[in-house]
Amino acid sequence: MSQWSAAPAPFARRLLTVLGIDELGVYRVLRVADVETPEPRPGQFAMLATAERWGGGEDERPYLPRAFSIARRRIGESHFLLEDVGPGTRRLCELREGDGLWALGPLGRGFQPPRPRHRAILVGGGVGIAPLAILQDALEAEAATDVTVLLGFRDGARAQGAALLHGARVATDDGSVGHHGLLTELLSQELYRDSRAEVYACGPAPMLEAVRAMCATRDVPAQLALEAGMACGFGACYGCAVPKRGGGYLRVCVDGPVIDARELDCVSEHAGAPS
Ligand SMILES: Cc1cc2nc3c(=O)[nH]c(=O)nc-3n(C[C@H](O)[C@H](O)[C@H](O)COP(=O)(O)OP(=O)(O)OC[C@H]3O[C@@H](n4cnc5c(N)ncnc54)[C@H](O)[C@@H]3O)c2cc1C
Ligand code: FES
Repeated sequence: MSQWSAAPAPFARRLLTVLGIDELGVYRVLRVADVETPEPRPGQFAMLATAERWGGGEDERPYLPRAFSIARRRIGESHFLLEDVGPGTRRLCELREGDGLWALGPLGRGFQPPRPRHRAILVGGGVGIAPLAILQDALEAEAATDVTVLLGFRDGARAQGAALLHGARVATDDGSVGHHGLLTELLSQELYRDSRAEVYACGPAPMLEAVRAMCATRDVPAQLALEAGMACGFGACYGCAVPKRGGGYLRVCVDGPVIDARELDCVSEHAGAPS
C-alpha cells in the first residue's frame, strides 16, 4: 500500500517490543518492532506509554499516554523521535532493547500529497522535524516531486537532529550550525526563488504562525502539523481543541494534526511542538 493511503487504526492499543534507542544530539530515536500496524500516512501519530513504570508508583497515578509523530517506517519497524521535556518523555527515553511499549495508532489526519509539478518545501523546527522524515521518504519514493528541506534549531546539540532527514538546509538561533537566524528567513528565500511550492511545516507555535502568515501573504498552500496537548488522541475529550477560521473549533487529534493553513486565522500559542 502507498504511504499516502492510511488504513484506519484498530481501536485497541498494541504491545510492541523496543529494538533500540539511538542518540541524535539531545534527541533519541526509539525503534520498535511493529509488524501489524496499518501503514501510516505521513503526519499521523500514535499515543505511547511504556509497559512498565509509566507513573503509578505508590503515591502516583499512572500518566496518560503521550502523543508522538510516527517519524519513520522501516519493514516491520516504527521509529519515533523523542525530546525529554517532562516525566513521560523522560521515561520513554529510558527504554532499552526488549522493553515493552503500548502504542495506539496511527491516529489523525496526515499530509496530503502535493499537486503535480509543485515543489514540496518541508519546514521543521526542533522536535517538530519528526513527521517530516516519513514525509520525505514518501515523497522520494514517488520521485515525482522536487523536495527542499529546511530545518531550524535552537543550538548545535539540537541541530544534530537534522541527520534524521537528508539534504537539509539548517538554521540555528545561536549561529552554531548553518544560517544564523530564523528558519523563516530561509523559507522566504526559497519562496522568492520559486513560488510554485507547497509548504509542509511542523514545529513550535511561533514558527508555525510565521510560516502560516508568510504563505498566506504569498498565496502559497501550506499544511501545518499542530501539536496541542492531548488526553485521549481520538476525539473524545476535546482537550486538543483550537479555534478555526470563521468560528468554532478543530480537534487536533481527529481534524488534524495536519491542518490546511487556510482553516486557521492564526496558530494558537499552545498548538506547536514543545520549544
Ligand atoms: C500530534 C503530536 C505529535 C507529537 N510528536 C512528538 C514527537 O514526535 N516527539 C516529541 O518529543 N514530542 C512530540 N509531541 C509532544 C509530546 O506529546 C509532548 O512533549 C509530551 O506529551 C510531553 O509529555 P511529558 O510528560 O514528557 O511532559 P509534560 O510535563 O506533559 O510537558 C512538558 C512541557 O511540554 C509541553 N507540552 C506537553 N505536551 C505538549 C504537546 N502535545 N504540544 C506542545 N507542548 C506540549 C508542556 O506544556 C510542558 O511545558 C507531539 C504531540 C502531538 C500532539
Ligand atoms: S485529544 Fe481528546 S479530543 Fe483530541
